[in-house]
Amino acid sequence: MRIDSKGLIYLEDVPVETIAREYGTPTYVYEENRIRANFRRALSAFRKYYPDFRFFYAIKANNNLAVANILRQEGAGIDAASINEILLAKKLGLGGEDVMFSGNFLSDDDIKQGLESGVIFNLDDISILPRVLKYGKPKFLSFRLNPGYGQCEVGDFVCNGGPNAKFGVHPDQIMDAYRLAKEAGITRFGAHMMPGSCIRDPEYFRFITGLLMDNIGKVGRELGINFEFIDLGGGLGIPYKHEDKVLDIDEAAKQVSDIFTRKIAEYGLNSPRLMMEPARYFVGDAGYIVGTVHSIKNSYSKIIGTDVSMNTLARPAMYGAYHHIYVNGREKEERAAVGLCGQVCENTDFWVRERMLPKDISLGDLIVVENAGAYGYAMSYQYNGRLRPAEVLVNGDKHYLIRTRENIEDLVRNVSVPDYLTK
Ligand SMILES: Cc1ncc(COP(=O)(O)O)c(C=O)c1O
Repeated sequence: MRIDSKGLIYLEDVPVETIAREYGTPTYVYEENRIRANFRRALSAFRKYYPDFRFFYAIKANNNLAVANILRQEGAGIDAASINEILLAKKLGLGGEDVMFSGNFLSDDDIKQGLESGVIFNLDDISILPRVLKYGKPKFLSFRLNPGYGQCEVGDFVCNGGPNAKFGVHPDQIMDAYRLAKEAGITRFGAHMMPGSCIRDPEYFRFITGLLMDNIGKVGRELGINFEFIDLGGGLGIPYKHEDKVLDIDEAAKQVSDIFTRKIAEYGLNSPRLMMEPARYFVGDAGYIVGTVHSIKNSYSKIIGTDVSMNTLARPAMYGAYHHIYVNGREKEERAAVGLCGQVCENTDFWVRERMLPKDISLGDLIVVENAGAYGYAMSYQYNGRLRPAEVLVNGDKHYLIRTRENIEDLVRNVSVPDYLTK
């Protein structure tokens, strides 16, 4: 993003006015060069300290195939949370060892289809293994450990580790889990963990790596398992508030590889590949929503009404997440405290209670909501008959429609009305 001397906003080199004119609002916009730069910065940091390193992209955060293809071109595999995400990976031309299936609380159908797909199976609980073995033997298996610890950006809402999380195998069961798998004749193993989200402290990554390695190291030593990869999950954070510190990615990589190599030596492991599967770090700050101010109310307080609603961007209403807002052409102007909302009939859609925004913000002004590239469109929905927005990719001064805005047909697509009800 760039703001010129008149306060006009450009996403890469495309004016937001062009986006609004060509595609309407609300529209998600992704900066291709920023996605690539994010990926390359992180990859080179980790490879500098541990050359046998690979990223998988957690496609749940943004499953637009144009975006995912950028990351595939950069060399990422895919972390899939569901069978459909395995099928999305297939549409990218990825399968086998380039895809890991990390679903949780799997149904028998999930298990059967997961086995058929031939991707790496990452099991969320020891109880799933016998159910998997009923249908077949995965070629490549890992378990997701819940190390009893988790850390998160917005309270317990996105905490994926620790006693309150629904994810992962209890540390007391991890040895038995791998033992059962080995006894069943499975020969290729990895290990996985994902205890935190949006973390900007390099020490956290050192700490969780140590935790995983202490659990997994004992398994390797006792069962003679040669782990081919160790996956630390996602969680590389971005600053949502401008005063938040930026994650020192080089330091995180250094800390992780330092403890990783020490623990490999301590437990006599066979130099496994080190992996992570972030999403937010790659696409979060590369995505924006362009919206329009449609209505302004002066009542108990001043509220700016926009077409960026909780159905378009769920994170603030869902777990109080913060997103910075810019107003096109007014960034240099005097500010005043106002609220801002969308158009959905829920008061959680009053998603900014008070914020210093340009004092003269007016009908027709364009707003740009920052850091919306991860868990933005992917979490959007149709409540109140409000349709999902368009998605646009920008690269330099070029812009491409990468998902059409929904219309009324999308609202009724899967609906059928019994004849007698139409009379
Ligand atoms: C298993 C797993 N891996 C990776 C990720 C990506 O996390 P992040 O976007 O914080 O990097 C998630 C997100 O919830 C996840 O559940």
